[in-house]
Amino acid sequence: MQISPSILSADFANLESELAAIASADWAHVDVMDGHFVPNLTLGLPVVERLAQVSPVPIDTHLMIEDPDRWAPRYAEAGASSVTFHIEAAANPVALARNLRAAGARAAMAIKPGTAFEPYADLLPELDMVLVMTVEPGFGGQAFMADQMPKVRQVREAVRRFGGEVWIQVDGGVSARTIEQCAHAGADVFVAGSAVYNAESAAANIAQLRALVAG
Ligand code: DX5
Ligand code: ZN
Repeated sequence: MQISPSILSADFANLESELAAIASADWAHVDVMDGHFVPNLTLGLPVVERLAQVSPVPIDTHLMIEDPDRWAPRYAEAGASSVTFHIEAAANPVALARNLRAAGARAAMAIKPGTAFEPYADLLPELDMVLVMTVEPGFGGQAFMADQMPKVRQVREAVRRFGGEVWIQVDGGVSARTIEQCAHAGADVFVAGSAVYNAESAAANIAQLRALVAG
């Protein structure tokens, strides 16, 4: 069970100290939005490159961008340890995943709430993680979509059949109130933005989330 706090809810004027505040997490989740694949715009390559240099934990990039075939490998080269592309935007996901692994990163595919997993189940051998979105991508602080839990179960079952080790990440509205149902459905990597950063102590919030899914 791993916790990946999303710095989308952090103070963008103080990212180095905001990363230091989540040193007890397993990853730092960095949401890259291009204003095209999603309506919102956040940050890109040069910022990720610096974050990777100063972060106490490895960088987990979630690319909500068009043309990931071209851009995603650049994030691996910039120092991201895990690179997640959206399947809806990828032209050649097999080649893309192989390029990510060749660049030394974990390769991951994200699926939006309206996208079915089944047509992409054959990609599992090329992947280190599948991200099941539990909100519509684009913004932090949205309500958790419990109707995505059957999809998490479906991915878990497909991973079991495949037999390899593929992590299942959930992202969006994950909090102390919703994390347990994600774990029960089969998720093992939990992204939380507002639940970690928008309350008193990030470290205490991480510890609370961890305790809820431990064992
Ligand atoms: C949404 C992003 C999420 C977001 C999660 O498009 O992918 O990572 O930061 O924020 P919360 O946890 O507040 O829903
Ligand atoms: Zn994200």
